Amino acid sequence: MKILKTTSDLKRLLQKEQNGSIGFVPTMGALHEGHASLLRVARNQTSTVVLSILVNPTQFGDQSDLDNYPQTLAEDLELAEREGVDFVFAPKAADLYGGTPSANKIDWGSITSDFEAAFRPGHFDGVVAVVDRLFKAVAPDIAFFGEKDLQQVAVVRKLTADNHPQVKIVSCDVIRDEKGLALSSRNIRLSDRGKVDALELSKALKRIKDNVNKKEQIALETSNLNANLNVELEYLAGVNEVSYSKKDSPNTWTHVIIAAEVEGVRLIDNIRL
Ligand code: PAF
Repeated sequence: MKILKTTSDLKRLLQKEQNGSIGFVPTMGALHEGHASLLRVARNQTSTVVLSILVNPTQFGDQSDLDNYPQTLAEDLELAEREGVDFVFAPKAADLYGGTPSANKIDWGSITSDFEAAFRPGHFDGVVAVVDRLFKAVAPDIAFFGEKDLQQVAVVRKLTADNHPQVKIVSCDVIRDEKGLALSSRNIRLSDRGKVDALELSKALKRIKDNVNKKEQIALETSNLNANLNVELEYLAGVNEVSYSKKDSPNTWTHVIIAAEVEGVRLIDNIRL
């Protein structure tokens, strides 16, 4: 496994790998089983696996969220080695961006204005800025993304169709712990009590999936979660995974999505209908 710290080193080395296919898993580090599962799929489908680790400053609206984002490089490298990664690309933001990191404002309709976009203004501007640069640096054949960040998958698919049509996007299922909590790098910041409260999110999603009247169950779960003092609900809604709009009608819904804070940690989750 080779670790590369600059875009120029990465490009030079990847040029030698031109015979096979390049699989790419972009991350912000603090790797967990969800990332490991993406790396396994990449290992199965492509001949060279590239993992990037960069806490991308342009996708954080809130400086304290950026400062608190977990960084566990030594453990990340062990996991990468175990999963058979060929190249770890861990640049400084200024190297990848070619100067001070910045992001252009993106307006792609509802996918960049509803739900996550509304609660985290500028977030997808930063995601698009970094994924665009990462795709230019890595030039992958296939890039792998986790469906926990379902709206991000929609945004990345649009970016790819517009700017990188040669890249195939593969999205992979949400990975959960044995109790049902969606794995996230942010879970490290939850106490044991917080982990129990956080389970209310996946339980609500499951009950909505199981009810024939999804709209009614969403309304019931929303009022229960609003009454729960340990969970600060931001949204709970049905969406279509492509249009990702507040206006999607129930007969077009593919998923139910949720975002909430528990112990000041922002959590998102979704379930396929
Ligand atoms: O999903 C993530 O970890 C990040 O948003 C990504 C895609 C690596 C871009 O920084």
